[in-house]
Formats: sequence, structure tokens, C-alpha cells
Amino acid sequence: MKKDKKLKVSIVMGSQSDYKTMKLTAKILKNLGIEHETRIISAHRTPKRMYDFANSIEKKNIGVIIAGAGGSAHLPGMISALTSLPVLGVPIESKKLKGLDSLLSIAQMPKGIPVGTLAIGEDGAINAGLLAASIIANTNPDIKKRLNNWRLKQTKSVKKKPK
Ligand code: RP5
Repeated sequence: MKKDKKLKVSIVMGSQSDYKTMKLTAKILKNLGIEHETRIISAHRTPKRMYDFANSIEKKNIGVIIAGAGGSAHLPGMISALTSLPVLGVPIESKKLKGLDSLLSIAQMPKGIPVGTLAIGEDGAINAGLLAASIIANTNPDIKKRLNNWRLKQTKSVKKKPK
């Protein structure tokens, strides 16, 4: 990865309906002061948009791509096939199978093209943001500091005794 303090994160999702989950990724990145963009890109409904996105991504100083998708959920794998940047996949909770379909689709990538798979739904969306922050923090001491502070705050928020 380039030694560049301004590496950004791209958050993409298969549908507008994924945004209620993926906005949590954007929220955590905003909280940590990490620049990001959000896009709707569907591997099957807008394949040309997906190709154009993948072809332009490395020129835009993007360090990590986070892709949320539900159902067959091929978007993260397809994007990873088109770029060697790290791709994190968030399985969206689907109506019929509660996201198990999305999880298996994203996690079961055959060898050769990796996708880092997070948990189904909101937990996955938040953790994708935190994991992207960890990756960006490798080359950005300011982000590392903010991420460590965020984690310290979380630790301190855990009460010693239940009420
Ligand atoms: C996937 O199909 C999207 O990622 C979304 O999770 C799912 C359903 O999309 P909509 O029918 O709500 O547009 O491509």
C-alpha cells in the first residue's frame, strides 16, 4: 500500500435497500475521520457501472473497498476479481433466508480471489468500517490514534457489574 496519509474508503452496495445497513459503515468511518464515498453498484443490474468503477478505483486513492450485498451477493467477489485492492464484504440480511444466503455467497469465494467477509447485517457493517480503519491505519498514524481511542472508549464503557 502507498505511504499516503489520504487513502480513502469506497463503500458500495447492490441496492438502495442496502443503505439502511451500509450507512452504519459510513457513520463509523465519519466518526474516525476517514474520507469515504458511497455508491450503488449492482453486479447484475448495472454490470457496466461495476466494470467502470473497478477500472477507475486505483486512480482515486482508494485503499479499501467495502461492498455490501444481499442474496446471491456476487458484488464483493466480482469487484475483487477486477482489482487487487482489499475488498471487505458485508452480507446484507435478506428477507427470505435472513442473510445466510448472502453470508455463504460472500464467504465461500474459491481460492485465488479473496473477499474478507464480515458478519451478517449491522454488526458486519460496523466491523467492516473498523477493519478498513485498521488497514488504513497501517500507513496513517493519525487514523491509528483515533482508532485506538475509539477502542479505549468502548472498553471503558463496559461496566464491571450489571445493574
Ligand atoms: C442485491 O439484492 C442487493 O444487494 C440487495 O441486498 C438485494 C435486494 O435488492 P432490492 O430488490 O431491494 O433492490 O442485489
